[in-house]
Amino acid sequence: MSVEHPEKSGEHAERPDEHPEKSDEHPEKSGEHPENPVATPFDQDAWWRDAVVYQVYPRSFADANGDGQGDLPGVLSRLDHLAELGVDAIWLNPFYPSPLADGGYDVADHRDVDPRYGTLADFDALVAGAAARDIKVIVDIVPNHCSAEHPWFRQALAAGPGSPERERFVFRDEPNNWQSIFGGPAWTRVPDGQWYLHLFDSGQPDWNWRHPDVVAMFERVLRFWLDRGVAGFRIDVAAMLFKQDGLPDVTPGSQGGPLSPGNSPVPYEHQPELLELYRSWRKILDAYPGDRGTVAEIWFGHADQARPYLTGDGLAQLFNFRLMPTPWSAGEFRAVIDESHRLARETGGSIPWVLGNHDVPRMVTRFGVDQDLVRAPTPEVLLGRLDVDVALGTRRARAAALLLLALPGGAYIYQGDELGLPEHLAIPDEARQDPMFERTLRTFIGRDGCRVPLPWSGTAPPYGFGGRETWLPQPEDWAALTVAAQRADPGSTLNLYRAALAVRRGHPALGDGDLTWLDAPPDVLAFAREPGFVLMVNFGAEPVPLPPGQDVLLASGPLDAGLLPPDTGVWLS
Ligand code: NOJ
Repeated sequence: MSVEHPEKSGEHAERPDEHPEKSDEHPEKSGEHPENPVATPFDQDAWWRDAVVYQVYPRSFADANGDGQGDLPGVLSRLDHLAELGVDAIWLNPFYPSPLADGGYDVADHRDVDPRYGTLADFDALVAGAAARDIKVIVDIVPNHCSAEHPWFRQALAAGPGSPERERFVFRDEPNNWQSIFGGPAWTRVPDGQWYLHLFDSGQPDWNWRHPDVVAMFERVLRFWLDRGVAGFRIDVAAMLFKQDGLPDVTPGSQGGPLSPGNSPVPYEHQPELLELYRSWRKILDAYPGDRGTVAEIWFGHADQARPYLTGDGLAQLFNFRLMPTPWSAGEFRAVIDESHRLARETGGSIPWVLGNHDVPRMVTRFGVDQDLVRAPTPEVLLGRLDVDVALGTRRARAAALLLLALPGGAYIYQGDELGLPEHLAIPDEARQDPMFERTLRTFIGRDGCRVPLPWSGTAPPYGFGGRETWLPQPEDWAALTVAAQRADPGSTLNLYRAALAVRRGHPALGDGDLTWLDAPPDVLAFAREPGFVLMVNFGAEPVPLPPGQDVLLASGPLDAGLLPPDTGVWLS
């Protein structure tokens, strides 16, 4: 099972706006933008330090206009589901105008809504609807690359070699040896003979971040969405914006293949200019009221790679993806938790925990296969050809949810994980949309299996999603997994998540803070949090005794007369 990530640049007298017809400001709210605000360390009580954020993949959340693809009015129409779930915020994956060469991470206009998803008015209505339910909205910022249909890239192609327009991107007469993270070369040749760099799909040209137009344009983009009331940003590919001067070849062996994050340094990751850039972004956020936050998508292989980004005047928050490739093993989970928690404490930064997202196979499926395949995926695994024990994976995923929500700090929940959805492994090849499928020459099925439209109600596709045909096909056997079915079932995964979030909101020990490991058998994780909270998860094959004299707040499965069964988690008080 592969859960590795796909992550794997002249001054002008004038700085023309890429969309000159657009005003930078929301008509309703003209923000104050002091030229040189002072960077202050973030507030240790900032909401995002221990928030539970729900990831909405708009194309697959809910479809209000019946075209088979989700949209912003669809998200608005289902906000009560999220309010009842009890999350603090939602993060919206890109909904910007895009040819969808990479599911919207190929942005053609950073300051608009793709007509497929609605309008800016729909976005404003969504922010207002969420605020009315005490839910904040975070949007995705995609600064490493744009769409080949972005006006500036079109202008660059038209203007030809040596033009100022080309300097906003990375054009060269000869490519270097860099490989795309999606497979194949990272360079594509244009008809006049030059090559442009794209670390991802050829439809996603990389920006030249040493160009002032690019810097200024993204400042406008940040302000545009801040003026519209967003609570913060998720920063895509946050470690790769700057490339090492001279674009040296990657040393053979250091890249480790297109799907291997965090291997030895490559010349397009972790360049020092990034920290200065993020300090300048922090100043922009700090000029707005409320604690606006950023969470960076950085797949760090080693704590030392993450440390510089966690300072108070910089980004201060990055995703903690390290549990996702971790097999179901108490020791391996504990090692990750220890290292990440230590890093957060040493830096004062925030590293919210993640068990699933739109780039990684669903945890029910990860935990339901032979765990050696998680440690070392075979070519068959990359093609989705594997035996999955969904019942086992579901039990473990429920226990993992209790672990996730008991850990110190914030947590992200990927849409559908609250329903216990498995990966959809049986999507026909001709229906696949992820560019990784073709770019890896069909040796990796790609990420569509975790992006399937959500089942809301009913007993057959489209399960109340909207439309007749959904953009990715849904499995035929999801009737018991719909929101409606699970609402009615007190033992459902949905009701477990709801109960856990309700306890978390009210319990003084949960959220930010510390943990103390408790003595436990080798296959069991047990920690205490003050005041008066204990988590236990049994990763082993035998039941283990529960500590005497404690009340059970919540259990991920049935308990057996004072025993914690295998693959079960429990919250005690
Ligand atoms: C990370 C996103 O999560 C992923 O979906 C996307 O393909 C790449 N960045 C490229 O933008």
